Amino acid sequence: MQAIVQDSYNGIDALTLATRPTPKLLNPLAVRVETHYTPVMPYDVLTETGQLKQRRPVKLPIVVGYGFGGIVREVGQLRHPRLHNQPVIGIQLTGSHQEQLLSALPPLLFPVPQSVSLADATTVIGGADAAYFALKKAQLTAGETVLITGATGSVGTYLVQLARLAGCHVIAVGHSSRHSLLTELGAEQVLDYNRPLEEQLTTTTVDQLIDLAGNASLLDHLSARLGPVNILSLALPDYQPAFPEQAFTFASGTIMPGDYRWLLDQLATGALTAVIQEQLPFTAVKTAQHHLMTEHSAGRILLTYQQEANNYVHEPND
Ligand SMILES: NC(=O)c1ccc[n+]([C@@H]2O[C@H](COP(=O)([O-])OP(=O)(O)OC[C@H]3O[C@@H](n4cnc5c(N)ncnc54)[C@H](OP(=O)(O)O)[C@@H]3O)[C@@H](O)[C@H]2O)c1
Repeated sequence: MQAIVQDSYNGIDALTLATRPTPKLLNPLAVRVETHYTPVMPYDVLTETGQLKQRRPVKLPIVVGYGFGGIVREVGQLRHPRLHNQPVIGIQLTGSHQEQLLSALPPLLFPVPQSVSLADATTVIGGADAAYFALKKAQLTAGETVLITGATGSVGTYLVQLARLAGCHVIAVGHSSRHSLLTELGAEQVLDYNRPLEEQLTTTTVDQLIDLAGNASLLDHLSARLGPVNILSLALPDYQPAFPEQAFTFASGTIMPGDYRWLLDQLATGALTAVIQEQLPFTAVKTAQHHLMTEHSAGRILLTYQQEANNYVHEPND
């Protein structure tokens, strides 16, 4: 089987495809998953360029990637036999961009409901989960107004929807080409980050600014117009707000297994929609990561594996 490997800090173009033995199921708590999708995340690119060395020290070489969606093909003796042939999503802390993987931590594996496609479900990892974390961290309540930068990205497209589900008013910042996407997701006002934001912002009644764009000057412009406002960023650890009355928090964290089940249920009922920008074969990982860095986002880019199997129709325990 093949895996995408980082063995230097020379960035996207230094990634390599390595052939490795198919992992053997020796741990009775593990399951072997045939990978179908993995999300392409800024976290991968930041690790490849060494920008996360402080916050995420790694010993090279590593397999790239964080999340996966796939089908369980082998089940350890201490796991439930019902998992066999079950579509799942999960977090693989040792790297997910590989054709087969062993998932050995039960709380990091989530069965996908029958009516949710595996591709859609995969966008929950590193997308909906981070958005839900941000929503909880911000302690938003119904009727409040939240302004979201980076709203067109994988986390942002979910955060706009989750904030609306929580009864909040949403002002979204994104590129003009993504205006209709943001409106369809529930944003009541959309600001184009290429035009002066001060002119576009018609209200200063914003309870919370959530930053997913990681652009300090964008935050400076918005906060200058807003005055006292709580700012939560998932992207800028060291931002210094210009005004002392602005409370700034950087946060990084996780949600509970039950939260993942809730998010998947929202996809099943249609209360949440997964936004997928593009799907590319895993062998085109460099192209996919360049697209992540250079194209205007519209949700998540996914790498695909097992092309034929991706047409798989989910039958319980088939
Ligand atoms: N702390 C945590 O726990 C956690 C978890 C997940 C993600 N994150 C971070 O959250 C951020 C969003 O993640 P993601 O997966 O949603 O990334 P993404 O899909 O690449 O989306 C990034 C978003 O930011 C916008 N953006 C980027 N640079 C910008 C700039 N200079 N000015 C204005 N907008 C800009 C993008 O718009 P365009 O595409 O139009 O440029 C896009 O809407 C990333 O920084 C990621 O590392 C943190």
